[in-house]
Amino acid sequence: MQVAEKTVGTFQALKDKIEKKTAHVGIVGLGYVGLPLAVEFAKAGFHVTGIDLQQSRVDRLMKGESYIQDVPSREVAQLVRDRRLDATTDFSVVRDLDTINICVPTPLRKTKDPDMSYIVSASDAIAKHFHPGLLVILESTTYPGTTDELLLPTFEKNGLKVGEDFFLCFSPERVDPGNPVYQTSNTPKVVGGITPACTEIGKLFFSQALQKVVPVSNTRVAEMVKLLENTFRMINIGLANEMALMCDGMDINVWEVIDAAATKPFGFMPFYPGPGLGGHCIPIDPFYLSWKTKQSGIEARFIELAGYINGNMPHFVVDKVQNALNNHGKAVKGSRVHIVGIAYKRNIDDMRESPALDVILLLKKLGAEISYSDPYVPALKLDGLDLKSQEALSSARQADCVVIITDHADFDYQGLLDSAKLIVDTRNAMRGIESEKIVRL
Ligand SMILES: NC(=O)c1ccc[n+]([C@@H]2O[C@H](COP(=O)([O-])OP(=O)(O)OC[C@H]3O[C@@H](n4cnc5c(N)ncnc54)[C@H](O)[C@@H]3O)[C@@H](O)[C@H]2O)c1
Repeated sequence: MQVAEKTVGTFQALKDKIEKKTAHVGIVGLGYVGLPLAVEFAKAGFHVTGIDLQQSRVDRLMKGESYIQDVPSREVAQLVRDRRLDATTDFSVVRDLDTINICVPTPLRKTKDPDMSYIVSASDAIAKHFHPGLLVILESTTYPGTTDELLLPTFEKNGLKVGEDFFLCFSPERVDPGNPVYQTSNTPKVVGGITPACTEIGKLFFSQALQKVVPVSNTRVAEMVKLLENTFRMINIGLANEMALMCDGMDINVWEVIDAAATKPFGFMPFYPGPGLGGHCIPIDPFYLSWKTKQSGIEARFIELAGYINGNMPHFVVDKVQNALNNHGKAVKGSRVHIVGIAYKRNIDDMRESPALDVILLLKKLGAEISYSDPYVPALKLDGLDLKSQEALSSARQADCVVIITDHADFDYQGLLDSAKLIVDTRNAMRGIESEKIVRL
């Protein structure tokens, strides 16, 4: 790739530092995304400094403790001991950094509009200590245009020129918490820069620590890649959920239908129904896209429709519980309902946006007495409820109905079947078991 003559000095200096691994790497936001990335670059031989506003996270990290399930404490401890990894709440360290990855939250407001306040606050704080030669890469999931419309003017304010004096990229984060095969290092990393020089330096940077880097032509393409990936999942899960509703009306086992369809070796990819969407990505990211496209007069109809179907799944589950109890001569009001699994997906401890929370709130409103078991979520405070995770089998014995929301591998499903009077299974956790006690989605 040809790089303009006048950029060569700054570009070459940063390139040399990256190749020699003497570049000082900064990661802003040390959560599910930022901490694994920080550890990966530290393991690759860089000096990495994390910046986070939460003093407690910084303190734990400096003590060598990990607070993210997929990152082992022994790795963090070793890297901190070797002075490869440290953390601070103080943005003035930006003056010493050569690269910065921004991994701060991008939630939705109640109105389903993007909440850009974390990105704005982080980039304003970086801008205060900005200097020539910096490479900044935004990783937070966001709408196309964020990097060039929001970050670029913030960093160019002090007279520096992108692609010449500093470099700016977007690289979508694809971390899949709890995935035993694909982690940060072996998940291909897409990166797009504002200019070709930005893309080139961004690609070089990631290729020092990650196995495969996929450069794209600009930041908007890179931003859209993430939204396509997550919208694809959200819409296909919406289709699987709609299939579940249709199959329910026709007394067909939707799980058997999907498993049989999945034997087709081409042109089909299985997605499964469930109690509703959860987590920090799939229920949220597509609305960043629909918000943005509305500005150019395009309605994102698939997204709105899938959002509507997925959003109704907790209601459908509660209807199932209600009918199941009624068929056993019980009303929901006063019945003991034991929820199995609170986290938004199996084998992880993250309960952000978990459909379990909606199901619990709806059942509570109908007058059910709620208890739960989740080895990853020891305690739950929700709308006046103050619950602690209970031993699953004895709680199942005492309950009028058990509702499986999250199919963690740790649960003894045969034991649950033996103990419970009635089970509403929203995940097909009781796959292959035939029993009148089981009501499937
Ligand atoms: N969690 C996932 O599985 C996942 C996957 C792909 C993409 N993402 C995206 O990555 C981004 C980060 O998500 P996450 O799950 O890591 O969030 P998180 O809440 O786990 O971590 C974010 C961290 O940023 C810190 N922070 C907030 N504002 C800050 C600021 N101004 N300066 C410094 N630190 C600040 C918070 O204290 C927190 O520690 C989001 O845009 C998310 O959509 C997340």
